[in-house]
Amino acid sequence: MNAAADPALLARAAALKMLGAALSGRGGLDEALSAGPGGRLTPVDRAFARALVMATLRRLGPIDRALDPRLKREPPGQIRDLLRLGLAQIYYLDVPDFAAVDTTVAQAPERLRGLVNAVLRGQLRDGPPPDDPEHLAPAWLFARWRAAWGEANACAIAAQIAQEPAADLTPRRALDPAIVAELEAQALPGGSLRTRKRGDIAAWPGFTTGDWWVQDAAAALPARLLAVEPNESVLDMCAAPGGKTFQLAAAGAVVTALDRSASRLRRVDDGLKRLGLTAEVLTADAADWGDERQFDAVLLDAPCSATGTFRRHPDVLWNARPGDIAALAAVQSALLAAAARRVKPGGRLVYSVCSLEPEEGEAQARGFLAAHPAFILEPMSPGKAGAPAASLAPDGWLRILPHHAEGGLDGFFIARFRRVND
Ligand SMILES: C[S@@+](CC[C@H](N)C(=O)[O-])C[C@H]1O[C@@H](n2cnc3c(N)ncnc32)[C@H](O)[C@@H]1O
Repeated sequence: MNAAADPALLARAAALKMLGAALSGRGGLDEALSAGPGGRLTPVDRAFARALVMATLRRLGPIDRALDPRLKREPPGQIRDLLRLGLAQIYYLDVPDFAAVDTTVAQAPERLRGLVNAVLRGQLRDGPPPDDPEHLAPAWLFARWRAAWGEANACAIAAQIAQEPAADLTPRRALDPAIVAELEAQALPGGSLRTRKRGDIAAWPGFTTGDWWVQDAAAALPARLLAVEPNESVLDMCAAPGGKTFQLAAAGAVVTALDRSASRLRRVDDGLKRLGLTAEVLTADAADWGDERQFDAVLLDAPCSATGTFRRHPDVLWNARPGDIAALAAVQSALLAAAARRVKPGGRLVYSVCSLEPEEGEAQARGFLAAHPAFILEPMSPGKAGAPAASLAPDGWLRILPHHAEGGLDGFFIARFRRVND
């Protein structure tokens, strides 16, 4: 078969490229899908390639556990990825076994087709690998979660990896019920909307009219908990791609949005334009911003390992390395110290990370309070903002684990401080 001529092979070739990009930490799944073979796909084949890669990443642990005993040594080139995609089609997508095997074998180099065929056919006889939670995550991350949150929570977190999440939307203002109905959306506590709709979101009702933006229900909490009033000055220190900036601007605050990435800030500008909102958008390193202004409220949604975002980005789990967490914790401490200098006396600071690792959350909050006696922790009362009750930690911050709400939500740490002295 010729990949150039056969749409089924073209879609699988695009998936192979995308999986390689995802697992080598180059990210940008959609960019990988648009480049090379993916650029020639029909929308239906494109959606198939994407679904195949996501299904593979969500079950990468079990798939590799099934493959390993069948591979005497590591196969060359992209053969492991090819086999992973083949097994994902057999077990997790609605692809007939013969089509999954034939298209996978056809993509292998001639000399390795026997191996690929034997592995897949052998696996067909064995049936799907079990979805044991401790095998859905990389072993080192599962061990961390077990040490930090206990066995039952670690299993419940990991079980979410295999689940396909719904899309959460944040409405710009109270939404027309007709749009809610068309979105087939369910209202979540706090005001987010959840829909099982799929496909091109730009074609969903209310997108072009700027009625909502896509934002996980947990990601909507930090800005809500900052509780800004109209005309308050607010600094969003790490703003791109902009979900929290949009919330703050929609609440009527006068927002300054910083990010050190000019390319990511373009998404903030585009979003503000679509939503009819305004903010001052500046490219700057927040740790070293040459501007002396102080603000009524500051949001630091810091760069982090993002292990809490695995429901939509399962590749983060497989790209994270143990050393990253300590390195990111040092960046977060420096950014928190910079954030403290920006808060007016009496003002508030919310710190958040979409990480499940205590070094990036609890340890940062404790370290910040110890180093900044002018600040106190303002305990959360999660009900109003819509945070799950299970997420309220005895210390007064939120530790949101992905199984804390029905249908799941991103893992987050959120703490709120107030500057009580000059
Ligand atoms: C977790 S993301 C922020 C997400 C954003 N708050 C939102 O809701 O869409 C972290 C951001 O921090 C930015 N960043 C990392 N280091 C930074 C620094 N020193 N100064 C400013 N921005 C930084 C990254 O470019 C990235 O966009």
